[in-house]
Amino acid sequence: MSQQELSLVGKHLQSRATRSHSFESSPWSEALDLIRDRPDAIYFGDGAPATEVQPIARLQEAALKAWADASGNLGYGELAGYAPLRELILERMQVRGIRAGAGDIMVTNGSQQGIDLIARLMLDPGDPILVEGPTYIGAMQTFDAYEIDYVVIPMDDEGIDVAALDARLDAMDRKPKLLYTIPAFQNPTGTSISLARREALLDLAERRHLLILEDDPYGELWYGSPPAPALRADHPAVVYLGSFSKTIAPGLRVGWMVPPPEMMDLLAMAKEATDIHSNRIATRTVYHAAEGFLDGHVAMLREFYGARRDVLIEGLTASMPPEIEWNVPDGGFFIWLRLPEAVSANEMLVTAARHDVAYLPGSWFYPLGDVRTNELRLSFSSLPVDRIREGAKRLGHAATDFLRNEECS
Ligand SMILES: Cc1ncc(COP(=O)(O)O)c(C=O)c1O
Repeated sequence: MSQQELSLVGKHLQSRATRSHSFESSPWSEALDLIRDRPDAIYFGDGAPATEVQPIARLQEAALKAWADASGNLGYGELAGYAPLRELILERMQVRGIRAGAGDIMVTNGSQQGIDLIARLMLDPGDPILVEGPTYIGAMQTFDAYEIDYVVIPMDDEGIDVAALDARLDAMDRKPKLLYTIPAFQNPTGTSISLARREALLDLAERRHLLILEDDPYGELWYGSPPAPALRADHPAVVYLGSFSKTIAPGLRVGWMVPPPEMMDLLAMAKEATDIHSNRIATRTVYHAAEGFLDGHVAMLREFYGARRDVLIEGLTASMPPEIEWNVPDGGFFIWLRLPEAVSANEMLVTAARHDVAYLPGSWFYPLGDVRTNELRLSFSSLPVDRIREGAKRLGHAATDFLRNEECS
């Protein structure tokens, strides 16, 4: 492209949509930039599932079956998704306490698309929505594009603070359109809602007619006791999002949503307007791979990720200075660390990078303006145990150095 053509495109970009300003910065690049030239660095920021446990051979067989049945199945169709897959999802959701009919499920391109479809359906610019503080970065990326206003509700080790939510709702003059929550093994904190808190939240939702968007990609991945049942199990005004990304593989982009039945037709049209429907081969592949296999595979994943969590907890216990605290999550992929109140995890990241280790500072998991800076997220899902052990040691050295220098300055 010539310089002149490039500058023409530049002019077009100057008049781009207001929403596009939310696409300007990548939340991931700050940590990665710091370790880009450090080949031995250990990166605790990657929250993706481990590649070693992706069931590739099983998926290859499943893909052959999917293609074998392709004749007549490669046209447009199946707006709600492949029917046998929806039946299989129904079965699986019983583990999370959800009983629904196949007509209540729509297959999506990952749970990320479920977040987008609900935002599309419900949110106008300036609408207030409730989110946990901290919350999942990817959800904020979606919500940002709809130019909404965040109302951040604090969390503690029992999940979202329902009393604070109640008080905040009392103080608001505009009713928020929805609450976005990740009740089981939350990203980023690893926290799960307690039974008492869950009951209080459902009671509040009923009393205040609050629509809940429940994002549940980690609900099946527990390493001790299972989490509380899904909110959707006991309340109809909950849009439930599930995913095969963490239990099979994220690259297939297969997830699902269970909205209140009255929303289904509109959501189906929103999905049709977005991508017409999900990939028919990918959804068949997931079905054939999961059938008769996924229960055993998930049981193996619980052992596998549970062992990684244990190694990270042991490493932190052995190496971290006493002023730093963390939780021990019962499942999911994340551990949340809290530094002393006045210490910045963003600044400590520079010291950590010098020790060849990096993480995601907690501030990125809050909407702008509501940021706490003394927290950080460690993900143990995608690193082998020897790297986790070594990484925890390096982090301990980095934190000790950083805190000592803070004291001196
Ligand atoms: C809380 C949460 N929601 C949604 C997603 C996206 O999942 P999917 O691959 O199903 O779109 C993730 C991925 O990390 C996540 O942590």
